[in-house]
Amino acid sequence: MMRVLVTGAGRGIGAALLQCGAARGWQMIGVLRDAQPVAFADTVVLHRCDVTDHAGLADLAKDIGPLDCVINNAGIMGPDRQSPLDMDFDGFARVLSVNTLAPLAVSQVFLPALRLGRRPRIISISSQMSFMGYRKSDRIAYRASKAALNKVMQGLATDLEPEGIAVALVDPGWVRTDMGGADAQNDPTDVAQGVLDIAAHLTMAQTGRFLRWTGEERAF
Ligand SMILES: NC(=O)c1ccc[n+]([C@@H]2O[C@H](COP(=O)([O-])OP(=O)(O)OC[C@H]3O[C@@H](n4cnc5c(N)ncnc54)[C@H](OP(=O)(O)O)[C@@H]3O)[C@@H](O)[C@H]2O)c1
Repeated sequence: MMRVLVTGAGRGIGAALLQCGAARGWQMIGVLRDAQPVAFADTVVLHRCDVTDHAGLADLAKDIGPLDCVINNAGIMGPDRQSPLDMDFDGFARVLSVNTLAPLAVSQVFLPALRLGRRPRIISISSQMSFMGYRKSDRIAYRASKAALNKVMQGLATDLEPEGIAVALVDPGWVRTDMGGADAQNDPTDVAQGVLDIAAHLTMAQTGRFLRWTGEERAF
């Protein structure tokens, strides 16, 4: 049985991760910011914390117990005005704080708990919008935040390799959630199952890699 912590667990991909993990018989711990819009199984434990509240995260980590996996899922699209020629800089800072800094802070704060786990691993939900291989400029703050997330997690993978803690990034594709909208291709439950399969089978040979939700490696 895996013991897995998921951030941004109240809706979208995060809620699907909690539901699907609980259905597998895993012990799921959800970190939510506010209200609890979804009814979860009794076995799911919920904690209230904003991922940008580093002191709150440290409090939460004190009594969390051993963890096998941390899934950094919480994320935001960022401000309305985010083109290279017209940037809401406060909004840009905010999206960096949620999408880039928070996953690293969450990973750091739960490392002692992961070190008590059996085959510890850290998974962060990135995006195809981080891809460096094209020059799209719309939603550039979001793109930059996910590209920076990839770089930070690649470095974390390097530093945790000697301890046998695997770190991977997952591209969930375009998913039908509040963020992805109704026209998106992927069902959040399918994506959640794919991410949980990755969580279950991730090896040290894959550490530092960027994977599609279906498990194949993809380009950064
Ligand atoms: N949907 C897509 O097509 C798509 C594509 C690529 C990548 N992604 C990534 O997948 C992840 C999940 O996205 P989603 O589609 O499920 O989005 P969503 O439906 O908009 O849900 C986002 C989740 O993140 C939480 N969150 C946001 N800011 C937070 C904060 N400061 N502290 C704690 N929780 C916070 C939200 O909590 P509240 O309910 O409290 O706001 C919510 O649970 C994100 O990292 C996103 O960038 C999504």
